[in-house]
Amino acid sequence: MRKITDERIYEPRVEPHEIFEASRLTGDATLEDLESIRRRTSVYVYEAPVRIWHWMNALCITILCITGYLIGAPLPSMDFSEATNQFVMGYIRFAHFGAGTVLSIGFLARIYWAFVGNRHAWQMFYIPIFNLRYYKEFLFELRWYLFLEEEPKKYVGHNPLAHAAMFFFITLGITFMMITGWALYGEGAGQGSLPDTLFGWVLGIAQNSQRIHTLHHLGMWAIVVFAIIHIYAAVREDVMSRQSMVSTMISGFRTFKDDRIE
Ligand code: HEM
Ligand code: HEM
Repeated sequence: MRKITDERIYEPRVEPHEIFEASRLTGDATLEDLESIRRRTSVYVYEAPVRIWHWMNALCITILCITGYLIGAPLPSMDFSEATNQFVMGYIRFAHFGAGTVLSIGFLARIYWAFVGNRHAWQMFYIPIFNLRYYKEFLFELRWYLFLEEEPKKYVGHNPLAHAAMFFFITLGITFMMITGWALYGEGAGQGSLPDTLFGWVLGIAQNSQRIHTLHHLGMWAIVVFAIIHIYAAVREDVMSRQSMVSTMISGFRTFKDDRIE
């Protein structure tokens, strides 16, 4: 193995034997690669409960959107066989209510984690409306997404644009879907049932359940729009930003592609 002694690059932070070790572990690493490995650092951002919640929540929402759509626009189930011999709509509704229950318990657990988890676990639940810098960075990020800025900024947690989208579409959006969903469920479960006792008042405000159906249905399309933009942004930022994205929601670590602070 070639001994690397280029002091311009390695002095004084790395001893020669450490360079050998890094070189051996990274296989075909060049001098530039080794220098880059040393510069890159990571920050632990999303703890395990946040990551597990994220992926379970994404799965539940996918199931809820598909089954919810089919509740609103049912399959022509009478074509399959006699209605008395099948349970197609029943299975669809069962999957919807099952995923709705998991989503609701998961969201309560996520709120609990906002209190006991690290600082970043809070981010999704508030918008710093009195912080002028937030608005400046929001506009900067909007320009970056519109290809009007040349270089992106670095963020440890969510960028201001993603932050706002998560707050409005998920924190408020899911709360709205849970309240209207459980109100509809309470109607089916009957007066005096637990969902009716907890959420029956929604029916009182809306005055008829068709109105709640419509609002619950429209809420689905808002969340679908969010999910499409969110997945596009996650992949786009993984490629174009100066930091890791999708892997951050898998490992919890944010890694940076360069070592400049700003
Ligand atoms: C992101 C979350 C959710 C989405 C996207 C969603 C979507 C939908 C949609 C599109 C409908 C059809 C509305 C219509 O056109 O009549 C529906 C119905 C319904 N959803 Fe949800 N939902 C969600 C969460 C929940 C939750 C948490 C519950 C609570 C159990 C729930 C309970 C219901 C009930 C009871 C119905 C009416 C079923 C029926 O009339 O047969 N949903 N949902
Ligand atoms: C293939 C699908 C998905 C991928 C690759 C993905 C990726 C990501 C990534 C990389 C982040 C972190 C963003 C950042 O660091 O600022 C994130 C956060 C988040 N995503 Fe997704 N996501 C997916 C699906 C979804 C879906 C379907 C939803 C809900 C509709 C969702 C809701 C959220 C929320 C609420 C956060 C913030 C989490 C928190 O702060 O606790 N994601 N996602």
